[in-house]
Amino acid sequence: MLVFLGFVLLLPAMIYAAVAEPSGVTIKNDHPLIYYHGRWDKSPGTWWAGSGLKVHVKNLRSLALNLGPHTTAPLAAIGVSVNYGEFVTVNVSAGANVIPIPPSVKPSSNSVVRINVEGWQDNRVNLETITLNSGAALLPYKPSKLKFQFIGDSLSAGQFLPKGVDQAWPFLTGEHFKAEHSVTAQPGAALTDILSYGNVHGVSFQFFRTEDTGFYYTTDHNFTTPWDFSADRVSTTHIVIHIGANDASQNVTDTQFVQVYSDFLTRVRTIYHSQPIFVFTPWGWPNADGSFGYYYQGKYQDIVSKRAAIGDKNVFLVDTTGWVSYADVFPENVHPNVPGHQNIANKFIAWLENWGLSPERQWATSA
Ligand SMILES: *[C@@H]1O[C@H](CO)[C@@H](O)[C@H](O)[C@H]1NC(C)=O
Ligand SMILES: *[C@@H]1O[C@H](CO)[C@@H](O)[C@H](O)[C@H]1NC(C)=O
Ligand SMILES: *[C@@H]1O[C@H](CO)[C@@H](O)[C@H](O)[C@H]1NC(C)=O
Repeated sequence: MLVFLGFVLLLPAMIYAAVAEPSGVTIKNDHPLIYYHGRWDKSPGTWWAGSGLKVHVKNLRSLALNLGPHTTAPLAAIGVSVNYGEFVTVNVSAGANVIPIPPSVKPSSNSVVRINVEGWQDNRVNLETITLNSGAALLPYKPSKLKFQFIGDSLSAGQFLPKGVDQAWPFLTGEHFKAEHSVTAQPGAALTDILSYGNVHGVSFQFFRTEDTGFYYTTDHNFTTPWDFSADRVSTTHIVIHIGANDASQNVTDTQFVQVYSDFLTRVRTIYHSQPIFVFTPWGWPNADGSFGYYYQGKYQDIVSKRAAIGDKNVFLVDTTGWVSYADVFPENVHPNVPGHQNIANKFIAWLENWGLSPERQWATSA
């Protein structure tokens, strides 16, 4: 490094070259080798926690995201993982955002950079271009053979966690299996299409849309558009649904809930014709005295049985009773804390492995 500095001092032209480097290689947002995941609108901009992109890069030394005006102001938190390392939070805003590349990354080898929005709100990243160092180039990103689609509410979206969805059990489960994963989960929302805790729609409506229900609170995109499932239809391999807490809070009756859930599954089956669907029972709201607040007891079994009765044998009940204790939740809101989400992920991973799913041995795109 000292030698290099001396060299620069003697040759001012070298300084210019170093400073000029940020101009690098510009990758436009429609570049076919950007692997987008989750839900993006046409701007293109993210909605729903966990949406993001992956790039496989040759000769990576620097990467910047140049974001447009539909990005959340003043900032959106994103998780960044380089070469399958831990996800690190970076706050980004409209304009140029340098993404730190760990010093361990060898520029001579190929690198995988994975980026996703962490929050269930303030989660809009409007990608214009990516700037790479000169000499870098995109390579194809090959997705995993496994792809989970998670559907839920705050208990899946990672509400109240420091790193949002990146620390939530669905994300952790997907990572364990070295799978692609989308988490379409809306805190406060019921499955029933009713107003619930500020959500103008329920998940049985909004799941089929590009935007999360936050669209209603924006001035630049106060509308919602159908989601085009054509890519998800073929690539999604496993669907996991954990929902009902907010229906219960809104006094949706047992009978209504079973009907809404059954109708939802019928519609989900028009997209994912035969993939296994895992229906979670509630783990309940733990109380300090060791008791639990349960809802719709026995009804999730009824929902699964109704599917079996019409010939759909690929819907499975995941009984989560006992998965969460009072120590696993934040006392002030009774949502799982960081170790609580890890415990839930570990239990579901064991459940899936027992069911017959094995993790991929390695990521499909190796770094
Ligand atoms: C991101 O911004 C939030 C809100 O200002 C702040 O609390 C947090 O520490 C920031 N995180 C990072 C990694 O910069
Ligand atoms: C979005 O539009 C609805 C009417 O469709 C309106 O009631 C609401 O206030 C608008 N939101 C904002 C943030 O302007
Ligand atoms: C639900 O029912 C309870 C008990 O009858 C009542 O206190 C509460 O206000 C109701 N909530 C809603 C959202 O209707």
